[in-house]
Amino acid sequence: MSDEKQHASGDVEAGDTSKRVGMEAIRERGVDPEELREKLIDAVGAEFTTYYYYTNLRMHLAGHEDYKEITEDARLEDRAHFELVAPRIYELGGHLPNDIRDFADRASCPDAELPVPMGGDEPDHVEDLDAESILEVLLEAERCAIRTWSEVCDMTQGKDPRTYDMAQRILQEEVEHEAWFIELLSMERDGEINPAGHFIRGEPGDAPYSTNRRINDSA
Ligand SMILES: [Fe+2]
Ligand SMILES: [Fe+2]
Repeated sequence: MSDEKQHASGDVEAGDTSKRVGMEAIRERGVDPEELREKLIDAVGAEFTTYYYYTNLRMHLAGHEDYKEITEDARLEDRAHFELVAPRIYELGGHLPNDIRDFADRASCPDAELPVPMGGDEPDHVEDLDAESILEVLLEAERCAIRTWSEVCDMTQGKDPRTYDMAQRILQEEVEHEAWFIELLSMERDGEINPAGHFIRGEPGDAPYSTNRRINDSA
């Protein structure tokens, strides 16, 4: 008899699709799943917008091919972070905003814009752009990401293993990204050697910790 099995039934009625045991289980352990999923929407909003903004920042690092390559790794890994966590929002009964403008507005980190005034769609003074100022924008974006995913780790550790696992994997890459841009900015701005401790990815945007493996992906 299935009724004799310890976990065969619980507070959610059999067949009730209006509730999720996956949400109630973490609520019982002290996480507010609705609060968490809203924070995750804000966090992946920042990953998605940063992916967009890094595209533009990378474009403007002409002449610094090594910087472009590393920015490309960080850019593609932010997309991986968005894709890793987006399904979790639905598992927690939420959804992505229908309007991308709403999504961008609620992102939990500032827009990583080109560090020059924008007139219309173009920067006003491209000739004033330098690698140092772009690296400073990249560095602060990584720091915001570290703060964000550290907060999610704190909220979920020991209570929501699935979200915690995602957040800690993303955090590992964000910490590496910060180290990359500290190394580059230290040399570019101050002429100082400040090693990151590691080298670029084997493949662009490899996302060694956070890649959301796809169907038919045999890697
Ligand atoms: Fe990220
Ligand atoms: Fe990052």
